[in-house]
Order: sequence, then structure tokens, then C-alpha cells
Amino acid sequence: MNLWITLLFSLIICFIYSEALVRTSYGNWNIQRIGDRNTPSFLIDEPNKQFLLDGLPFRYISGSIHYFRIPRERWDERLGKVRALGFNAIQYYIPWNAHELDEGNHDFSGVLDFAEFSSLAFHKYNLWTILRIGPYICGEWENGGLPAWLLNKNVTKQRSSDPVFTREVEKWFETLLPRVKPLLRKNGGPVLMLQIENEYGSYDACDKQYLRFLRDLTRAHVGDDVLLFTTDGASEKLLNCGSVEGVFPTVDFGPTDNSKEVENNFQIQRKFAPNSPMVNSEYYPGWLVLWGQKRQDLPSIQTIIRGAQSMYSLGASMNFYMIHGGTNFGFWNGAETEAPCITSYDYDAPISEAGDITTKYLEIRKWIKGLPDWTTPPLDVPGNSPKANFGNIKMRLVHSVEKFNGMMDMRDFSDAGDCVDSEKPISFETMNHPLGLIAYQTKINSCGNLTIPSFGDFVYVYLNGKYIDTLTRRYYNLSRNSVIIEGCRNDGEDRLFLLVENQGRKTFETINDRKGILSDVFVNNEAIRFWTQCGIKLPLQDNFTYYLRRASKKNPRKFMTSNQKQGVFVGVLPVEAPADTWLDTTGWGKGIAIVNGRNIGRYWPTEGPQMTLYIPAEFLKTGENLVMMVELEGAHDACTSTSACVGNFIDHPIFHFDK
Ligand SMILES: *[C@@H]1O[C@H](CO)[C@@H](O)[C@H](O)[C@H]1NC(C)=O
Ligand SMILES: *[C@@H]1O[C@H](CO)[C@@H](O)[C@H](O)[C@H]1NC(C)=O
Ligand SMILES: *[C@@H]1O[C@H](CO)[C@@H](O)[C@H](O)[C@H]1NC(C)=O
Ligand SMILES: *[C@@H]1O[C@H](CO)[C@@H](O)[C@H](O)[C@H]1NC(C)=O
Repeated sequence: MNLWITLLFSLIICFIYSEALVRTSYGNWNIQRIGDRNTPSFLIDEPNKQFLLDGLPFRYISGSIHYFRIPRERWDERLGKVRALGFNAIQYYIPWNAHELDEGNHDFSGVLDFAEFSSLAFHKYNLWTILRIGPYICGEWENGGLPAWLLNKNVTKQRSSDPVFTREVEKWFETLLPRVKPLLRKNGGPVLMLQIENEYGSYDACDKQYLRFLRDLTRAHVGDDVLLFTTDGASEKLLNCGSVEGVFPTVDFGPTDNSKEVENNFQIQRKFAPNSPMVNSEYYPGWLVLWGQKRQDLPSIQTIIRGAQSMYSLGASMNFYMIHGGTNFGFWNGAETEAPCITSYDYDAPISEAGDITTKYLEIRKWIKGLPDWTTPPLDVPGNSPKANFGNIKMRLVHSVEKFNGMMDMRDFSDAGDCVDSEKPISFETMNHPLGLIAYQTKINSCGNLTIPSFGDFVYVYLNGKYIDTLTRRYYNLSRNSVIIEGCRNDGEDRLFLLVENQGRKTFETINDRKGILSDVFVNNEAIRFWTQCGIKLPLQDNFTYYLRRASKKNPRKFMTSNQKQGVFVGVLPVEAPADTWLDTTGWGKGIAIVNGRNIGRYWPTEGPQMTLYIPAEFLKTGENLVMMVELEGAHDACTSTSACVGNFIDHPIFHFDK
């Protein structure tokens, strides 16, 4: 009897106590609770400046790894490699635009099933998840993760408390956060804490009202007792704008040999969170690469280890950005102001683009193995997947680029609904064709100076089927918006065909980066009226038999003069046993490669440094594989004629850096 009363009494005390805790935690990140080892939870224990996971002191060494950049079939392999390093957590972003490419149409299936990614990491490899929900993510991802259709809204300023923007974020979080909730630690899942926004202090808005909005909106969905955090560069100025009351501020910085520098960086974090654990949310063992980049200056492996050791000695938690980068398949690469990001997101990360173990990996693993107090020591070094050198195949031109031209031809490639007639040319955003290519076509009365004051990003100009030149909005210091066109017949039937390529929207300083033709088009200062524009759907119909037949024709029809090696090339790759391989694009110009209907990304070997495109084994099948290359600039060195170009499949990646 006595026992029961005592028990009941302590239950009531407990109830009051935890109730009180929830209350004090409201509006405050420094949630405290006496350790309760039976209740899943993730908190900050202020007096001891540490995390408590299920009531026990906790720190993490985690790695950034993006589910959306890895073929789904390979998640297991890559996550296993993260665990084998001795890491105990993963960290990843959620890219809004990949999940809602078309407004209102959400996709969480296949490679976008992040809940499955985290479950696999947790149940098979005991890896916790640190989740970065955005809505803006940067991540060198198209438009920093924001959907392109936001550009059609009346948003005065993205990533601010502009009511049009916040209303869209509300709608997105209404869909997203109920999927996150069951994964949270308090609900028994692997997700420890949620990052809102990303390096917001680096954005010029400095809008605290917006950060408060994100904080309160997230809490409204997941509860007040979930740890939220922000990440900013380690400077007071950046944290001033990037942090907000009630949200745990963390910092990011790269490798250094100087342990004092590491201490100083955490001192800055501590100014904003005096009684917090130290966290570096992005520690860079590698770096992103842009098209046309000639050099890659990376820290030495020794510096990477020394920096990590300095952080570890201070008791900090750290996240390696990236531990495994993966690939920007399709059109998902973002862009910087000077140039677009390359297709590969190898990042020179410890686990390579194809999932291979690197020297960096082995050194980091060795370092962790030597930490006496680390509780998830490394496992055996996993093996690498087989790689194949399939050799050369013949690629033949089956369509000219201008075959994208005209309503009839276009409909070979795309749904009828993708073509729009208008008086003035319209943008990718207005077309609701967010990515890739749009063909603009009209008739002109005379030749002369063709000028397009505003467009994004590259315009391939054709007159009567003949390629003239390429206009460039801005590529490093190159920019060109006019060209002299000659050869008109002046019969009112001269066809002007402009193929416009979106090379990826800017990720940093996301500032309404619209694509397509954004102004009038002038010939000799006269605005051209009446356009037909067609969004080109890639992969160009997964019409295997049709293209296969054309690929193997004895005498393929010649569409273009022999020195214009532009258009859609196809070839057949025979495969006995599928294995990872790389398409070596050396000798080709610039374009998009498609394997069995899967867009493996953009190539641009004339600029480099990326010369090869990664093809995971899962994209191939035993037997005949259809390879397509949409060549925009001309495949001169890869061809002896348009019916004899070479597609070469090799067993390793090639990057050409001067240094
Ligand atoms: C766009 O937003 C501005 C400022 O928020 C407002 O003044 C204007 O009326 C809006 N326009 C439309 C078409 O909604
Ligand atoms: C533009 O860049 C190229 C290569 O980066 C360089 O050689 C050239 O001098 C630059 N031109 C100008 C005008 O800055
Ligand atoms: C064409 O006209 C534009 C605008 O008048 C001018 O800036 C440009 O230099 C001209 N282009 C050529 C190639 O002559
Ligand atoms: C494939 O192309 C052929 C030839 O143009 C056409 O007859 C057929 O309908 C196409 N099939 C599909 C599924 O698009």
C-alpha cells in the first residue's frame, strides 16, 4: 500500500516536473531535463555544456551525405562506409525543389524517400541523423533548394518575412514536417535535431522576423521540445544575423593546423551560446568545383586530421561536409555567380563519387581508431564496387538540334502541352519548364545584328537550320549578347531558332535567377514578334526501340553538314555484367548525356575540369544499353563524320586541373 502511494506520488512529481521543463524550454534552446534513460530524448545539458542523448552525455562525429545525390540502390553501400569510418551520425539537407518540382505535386518516393534513408542508416548502421530542413539549403544545388516556381510568385525578397514567401514555406512545411515528426528522437527515431535555414548570416536580408517565423512554424509542427539549430560561418557578424533566440547556434569552418584558430572559432559560437556544446556543422575535407575551374586548392590530409583532432580535444562535435558527395544527376547542379557547378559532386570527399575508399578515408579512420574514449570505433574497411572499362562504341547523329524546331518535330520529343505561342518570348519560369532546355522559334524578315539584352544562360543561335554562334549571359569574364547573322533569303520564311540552356540557378545569393529569354529579341534594333517556344523534355522519350533502330542503321540520314556535329547522337553499349563505369567525353563539346533514359548529367570537356560522367552499375542492364548525347556545341574531335563518333567507357574518373 505504502509502495503504491509512493509510486503514485513520484509519478505526480515527475509529471509536474516535466511539465515545468517544457514550459521553461519554450522560447529557449537550453532545454534541461534530469536524465531519464528510458525515454528517448535529445537535449542540451547547460551546466555541463554537453548534449544528452536519452539522458546520457553525447557527442558526434558525423558526415554530410545527400540521399538525393546517390542512386537509391547504393544508399546501403555508402552509409555502411560512413559507419565503418567510426562515425556515429549523418547530416543531410532536404531540397524542397526536388520534392516539389511542380507546384503542389510532392514526391517522397524512390531516391527522394529520406525517411527510408534515415531508417536504413539507423537500423542497419546505428547512425543518428542531423537534419537540415531549410527551406533554403544552398548545397551547390539548383536554386539553393528553392523551387523555381517561387519566381512566378509575387515575392519581393526570397528568404525573408515577405508574406508571399512565408505563406509558401508554411505550405511546404505542412507537407514536410509531418513526415519528419515520427523520425524524431523523442518519438524513438534517429533524428536528433533540426537545422532551420542555412548560413543565414551570409545573406543580406538579416531578417530576424523570418528566423522567428521558421522557428515557431517548425515548433508548431514538431513540438517545443525538439532542439532546433542554425549554422553560420564562425564570425560575430555572421552569427549576429544568422542566429535567433531559442535556436541553438552552431558554426562552420574548415581544416587548420592552428589549434588556437579552432578555439577562437568556438569562442565565437560560445558568445552566442555560452553554455552550449561546441559544434562545427561543416568541416570541409574537400570543396566544390565549377566548370572552367583550373586549380583546386585543398587542405592536406595532415591538416584535415590536425584540425579534427583540435576540435576533438576541446570536446566538440563535428560534421564533415561532405563525407561523400555523390552526383548532380540530371539538371540539379547549382551555379555560382562566375560559373555553374560541375555535374560531379565528388567534392574530393573521403568517400569518392562512386563510393570508393580514398587515402583521406583511411587516414580519418586511422585517427578515429586511435581515439581511446570514442564509443563507436571503426569497422573493417569495406570493399569497393567493381568498375568496368567497356571500351569504345560508335555514336551516330540521329537528329539535328534544330529538329527540336517546329511544332511537328517537337512533338516527337515532348508532350504537346509543352509548346506555347506568344507575341513576346517567355521565360522558363513562365513556361513552367524549370530546368534544361527551351527551343524558341520565329520567322524574321531580314538578317543583321541579333541582340538579346537579357537572357539566361546560353543561347545557341540557328538560322535556317545552320548554327551561327552562341550567346552567353555571363561565364567568368565572358559575356556576349549580340551576333551578326547572315544568309537570309528575305522571303519572310527565314527561320530563327534559339535553343536556350539553363545551366543551373545560383545557389548562393539566391536572387531571382530567371532563365530563358528575358527581354525582347532584336534584329537591327527591331523587336521580333510571335514566337513558338517548346520546353524540351529530357530524357527525350524513353523510346528505346525507336532510337535503337536508328543507332544501328547502316546509313543514317545525314541531317547536317559534316562540320556541324551538333544534335542528338545515339549509340548502343553492349554489357555482359553491369558495373560502375565512366563516359569519357574527351573530344565532345558540351551537352547532356542520357543512358537508358536516365539523365546522367551535363558534360563540357572543352572547359573541364570534369572529363568523365559517372554511370552507376544500376543504370545499366545486361544486353544492349542505349546511350544518347545531346551535343550543343559540336563534337569535333570525337568524330570523323557525323555517323562515326566515339563514345568511350572507362573504369575511372578524369578531372583535369592545372594543379
Ligand atoms: C505584389 O506585392 C506587392 C508588395 O507586397 C504588392 O504591393 C502588390 O500589389 C502585389 N502584386 C500582386 C499582383 O499581387
Ligand atoms: C578573362 O579570363 C581569361 C581566363 O580566365 C583571361 O585569360 C583573360 O585575360 C580575362 N580577360 C579579361 C578582360 O579580364
Ligand atoms: C549589335 O547591336 C548592339 C546594340 O545596338 C550593339 O551593342 C552591338 O555591338 C552590335 N553587335 C555587333 C556584333 O555589331
Ligand atoms: C517510338 O517511336 C516510334 C517511331 O517514331 C513511334 O512509332 C512510337 O509510337 C514511339 N513509342 C513511344 C512509346 O513513344
